[in-house]
Amino acid sequence: MLFALASSYRRQLRRAFAVTSFLVLIFAAPPIIGARANRSVRAAHAIVVAESPEAAAAGVEILKAGGNAIDAAAAASLATGVTHPASCGIGGGGFMLVYLARTGKIYALDYRERAPLKASATMYLRDGKPDERLARDGALAIAVPGEIAGLDAALTRFGTMKFQQVAAPAVRLARGGFPLGAHLAAEIGRIAPHIASDPGLASTFLKPGGVAPKPGDLIFEKNLADTLVGLGDNPVEKFYHGALAAQIASFIDAHGGIVSTADLAAYQPVWREPLHRAYLGDEVYVMPPPSSGGVLLEMLGMLEPGHLAGLGVNTPPYLARLIEVMREGFVDRDQYADPAFINVPLETLLSPRHIDEARDRALHHAPPAPTPAVAHDHGTANLAVVDSAGNVVVLTTTINTIFGSKLMDPKTGVIFNNEMDDFAVAPGVPNAFRLQGVATNEIAPGKRPLSSMTPTIVVRKGKPIMAVGGSGGPTIITGVLQVMLDVIDFHLGPRAAVDEPRIHEQAAPPTVIVEATMPSATRSALEKMGYALRVVPILGAVGAITIAPGSLRAAGDPRKGGMAAGY
Ligand code: GLY
Repeated sequence: MLFALASSYRRQLRRAFAVTSFLVLIFAAPPIIGARANRSVRAAHAIVVAESPEAAAAGVEILKAGGNAIDAAAAASLATGVTHPASCGIGGGGFMLVYLARTGKIYALDYRERAPLKASATMYLRDGKPDERLARDGALAIAVPGEIAGLDAALTRFGTMKFQQVAAPAVRLARGGFPLGAHLAAEIGRIAPHIASDPGLASTFLKPGGVAPKPGDLIFEKNLADTLVGLGDNPVEKFYHGALAAQIASFIDAHGGIVSTADLAAYQPVWREPLHRAYLGDEVYVMPPPSSGGVLLEMLGMLEPGHLAGLGVNTPPYLARLIEVMREGFVDRDQYADPAFINVPLETLLSPRHIDEARDRALHHAPPAPTPAVAHDHGTANLAVVDSAGNVVVLTTTINTIFGSKLMDPKTGVIFNNEMDDFAVAPGVPNAFRLQGVATNEIAPGKRPLSSMTPTIVVRKGKPIMAVGGSGGPTIITGVLQVMLDVIDFHLGPRAAVDEPRIHEQAAPPTVIVEATMPSATRSALEKMGYALRVVPILGAVGAITIAPGSLRAAGDPRKGGMAAGY
């Protein structure tokens, strides 16, 4: 029975992904920079997984040129900013985990955007009422970008190459053009009228007459190429203090935003202690606040004492257990926020007692009545690299929702984030991901908004065995959880783990989101248990690498044209 179900899942998946893979193969085109990228790859020495073939190839190009995993991750990140400009770029920010083979330690880098110094908890109130559109579109939605400061901090501390070396593949793609991938083409098509209203975005991503380009059409970002070159080998000085900083602040000011040269000059990335906990004998390392790695650890803690034993991947009882555990994790996510402003009670939240109580609630929860649908989104991008020395990097980077604030400065080619929407615009007001606003995450000058980005490294006997992360707002946490469980508990390879249909539950609204590839018999079984389901074509993308001596395996997510490359 289980085998029959499993092979039916696989048949459906193969059918669903055949079209995507075909489009990706045809339209994502061969990388112009010399490394062949594939949906899944095995390699003996070094490997990269990213959300575009060009980004994976950029990472491998840098590795082959003698760079280490940190250099390659910076190159792949900059290349992703070019090839997935709706998801991430130098107008955004991110989080990075680094395992350094020489020290055997894991380091966590926070280069999340910050609220501008003139921001306030009431900045989106108009006539006493919250206007959440102001936090999503337009210049008032922009938080101070952290991307360049973060990549520079990682390169300076652990890299071996200069900024221009790692930026070279991105510059080449931006100047020489890259073939539009199917995922980005669909996103542009979906919001073409919105893109048309911004001269910078329109001139780059629309054809004359406001027509959306097709997959395979070449896209050029020449202004961004000039900006990347202009950053030289001291990008922080240029981006945060020089003429470029003045241009950025002046563009934002002219469009009604409040990010100033003082904000840019004050921006600092932060090295933090990663959070970690044991799971079935392994040690799982994640980002601490202001990201949501702790929520993933709490979910794993609830599942650890044999709660999945005897259950098959994606069987209804397994999914029911996950739904309950996801709900409890998201209830506690409300206590997470920027630790410089809020005392996040991590010791309590991750204590055995609290996790036991949460598990108890999860096991005895009765599904509530159906409620309205939950939005889903595929902004943000994740990538991971393992080099031949055994260094591992996994990073997640974002400008938040599709094309962020939907403003591009035509002079610099920078597309600005709308990360202010990750704050609570007002108590109880949901953000773009339908996460309810809570006081811990209210806006304050210089504060970092709570994130769901969950780059994760799993360590066994002191050595990394898995690097995993994803994109897609809060579905990152649940997507990473499911892919991890598929690998750790069910011994699937990364490709099978990434391909399995996924679900997402975030406590409020109490609707379980299910991918359309989940077999209908499974969906019916969940509905009979009382769960209100919303079926979506795809949830966010997850990329994974598994690491064994002499054997590296990586899988990109076909949901977003993800690709891997290695040697
Ligand atoms: N911008 C999405 C997140 O950080 O969760």
